Amino acid sequence: MFSEMEKAAVYKAIYNRRDIRSFLPYAIPEETINKILDAAHHAPSVGFMQPWNFIVISSTEIKERLAWAADKERRALAIHYEGEKESKFLRLKVEGLKEAPITFCVTCDPSRGGSHVLGRNSIPETDILSTACAIQNMWLAAYSEGLAMGWVSFYKKNDIRDILEIPPHIDPIALISIGYTDNYPEKPLLELANWEKRRTLNQLIFGDKWNSPWNGAEDTMQQTPEYQPPTPD
Ligand SMILES: Cc1cc2nc3c(=O)[nH]c(=O)nc-3n(C[C@H](O)[C@H](O)[C@H](O)COP(=O)(O)O)c2cc1C
Repeated sequence: MFSEMEKAAVYKAIYNRRDIRSFLPYAIPEETINKILDAAHHAPSVGFMQPWNFIVISSTEIKERLAWAADKERRALAIHYEGEKESKFLRLKVEGLKEAPITFCVTCDPSRGGSHVLGRNSIPETDILSTACAIQNMWLAAYSEGLAMGWVSFYKKNDIRDILEIPPHIDPIALISIGYTDNYPEKPLLELANWEKRRTLNQLIFGDKWNSPWNGAEDTMQQTPEYQPPTPD
């Protein structure tokens, strides 16, 4: 069982973690990088296939090429927006990729574990979902280490494969900028930019069937008794 303080620490990381776009030019200790990667490696994965690899990028030249690929895609995607949304979209920063001392490219190898990974036979994209779990672990671990992380997915996968010499069957799932920052907002940057806001949770929860209301614990209690934790000796 977690103590109240331990529980509070977990929720603190969940609620306060943010996607960050600007970084300070300070190095991250190697021990911390290893801890964050080890947190990623302890994520759940379908059939325990652990489909991830992590390319740790510190070369300025490579980071600039990655930023170029992201910027090219950002400009291409701008055609989906008009007027104010377009100018807001174009203001979204990709410079974080150049500023951050380290960028991780997190990849997914769909062939890891052979052709019949337990569970992946039914839903093939569970390998990518597993990789996303690893990235979330990194995000929370980075937050607890006082570091900021930004997830960049604006790019053509083949541009990233070319730049990082990734084989064609490996999926580059994310470019993750990581570093210290002096701008750690309380709310998502997209909320502060009036792009999107957090939806009301109650409207996203259904009970028993799609679109039918959930009446909270009342419903659950009618079906199953309340858990009584064992008393310590
Ligand atoms: C799968 C995924 C892809 C994302 N790709 C980008 C991206 O390409 N560029 C970007 O600015 N933010 C990206 N983000 C960050 C989201 O915009 C951010 O998580 C969201 O606005 C909520 O903010 P928060 O993470 O600070 O709570 C991505 C997040 C996820 C989970």
